[in-house]
Amino acid sequence: MSFTADRLLLFGATGDLSQRMLLPSLCALDAEGLMPANLNIIGTARSELDDHSFRNFAREALEKFLPADRRGGMADFLNRLHYQTLDATTLEGYTELAAKVGNPDQGLAIFLSTAPSLFGPTIAGLQHAGLDGPNVRMCLEKPLGTDLASSCQINDAVAAAYPEDRIFRIDHYLGKETVQNLLALRFANVLFEPIWNSNYIEHVQITVAETVGLEGRVAFYNDAGALRDMVQNHMLQLLALVAMEPPTSFDATAIRDEKVKVLRALRQISAGESVTGQYGAGVIGKDAVPGYEEELGQPSETETFVAIKGHVDNWRWKSVPFYLRTGKRLPERVTEIVVQFRCVPHSIFAGKGASIRPNRLVIGIQPEENITLSLMTKVPGLDREGIRLRQVPLDIAMPDAFSGTVRRIAYERLLLDLIEGDQTLFVRRDEVEAQWHWIDAIRAQWHAEELRPKSYTSGTWGPSAAVALAERDGVSWHD
Ligand code: BG6
Repeated sequence: MSFTADRLLLFGATGDLSQRMLLPSLCALDAEGLMPANLNIIGTARSELDDHSFRNFAREALEKFLPADRRGGMADFLNRLHYQTLDATTLEGYTELAAKVGNPDQGLAIFLSTAPSLFGPTIAGLQHAGLDGPNVRMCLEKPLGTDLASSCQINDAVAAAYPEDRIFRIDHYLGKETVQNLLALRFANVLFEPIWNSNYIEHVQITVAETVGLEGRVAFYNDAGALRDMVQNHMLQLLALVAMEPPTSFDATAIRDEKVKVLRALRQISAGESVTGQYGAGVIGKDAVPGYEEELGQPSETETFVAIKGHVDNWRWKSVPFYLRTGKRLPERVTEIVVQFRCVPHSIFAGKGASIRPNRLVIGIQPEENITLSLMTKVPGLDREGIRLRQVPLDIAMPDAFSGTVRRIAYERLLLDLIEGDQTLFVRRDEVEAQWHWIDAIRAQWHAEELRPKSYTSGTWGPSAAVALAERDGVSWHD
């Protein structure tokens, strides 16, 4: 298991993810000397290209998607690239592909970034060509199914050729520095852990808001919707990191064991605990944008927004709601976690006219990477007319605290971990299945309630029912 791959085989090499994320990440790593010196990258897809034209294709992608100051050594990187055309659905081409890849015994990492319908035939082809030996790792990009049953089918097909300790399931949120920092914040400071429970925390909010709309992913998105596209994976991983028990070490098994316990403890939601929405026309920033159905070109009942009130049924989180919210065409791009603490049990200032607001920790994941803890302080003065208290933020702006460090693409970390064989930041099968189990129950609930997405104007925070979902409990979303 502990080998560093000296070749990387990229399926879907001419696709969108490859252009925007994978090739730029690999080039950036190479420019910093972080890639194994002898690593060869073999791209494959249906397009008729050869090594030369694939290198030109990659150069264009890098010039478009990688900042110029991270492209040093691009020529050397391009020389690592090779290409083999493949129709993934028929066995024939795989022997030629294997010849291009060469002997996998020194360590081969395969990255599947293709439609899930191709996973089965691709695995069969790889097996046929002998690209499934003990030194081969398999990395899978989402979507891994559309429900628990289809996800099990994919996992079974992959498991027939590769054991779990060689399967790397991507959730790119785990590659984000700020998401990993959640672990440091919780488990490298003594301050938080003693109060990280229902005695001191009143509720948690997780928001993943986007300003973008369909972005041309018409067929995929309309079949998926926000629940399956964002909640099933990214948001549940964030929730698991916030809610999990302290693992014994920073180790793939220890961390994933704790996350899966949280995911399995998610309570099935009841009627009225979720809201769905679909964006109509509106304005984002200064730009007028069309509604979802107009972009799609047909009527649709797919949700582009979802808000959920969830619970983790265990001792630590007894009666603490987790409010989750995600949507497209919202007013700003922001991912953040809000931990709302309870009020002090008794105010010694009540008789002096001062009111106390409970502490709140806001962890900004993107685009601002900052951690803000709101604290009550005394307003300076002689207090002749009573004591005045005010909430002030204790702010850590991560880019300032770590100025000079590179802002990385999430995939850089994940690709390097894949090449080196560290599974800590990849999702284990039991996690994915626990995630789907909860999501399937939500969809069944929607079906039973005959819930239809409510329309919201692009550039607003979703349907008003989402505000009401929290306000019923006296909670306001942190906007
Ligand atoms: C992807 C979803 O997994 O994550 C997209 O399919 C979404 O719909 C994207 O836009 C968001 O990722 P990020 O890193 O921009 O927050």
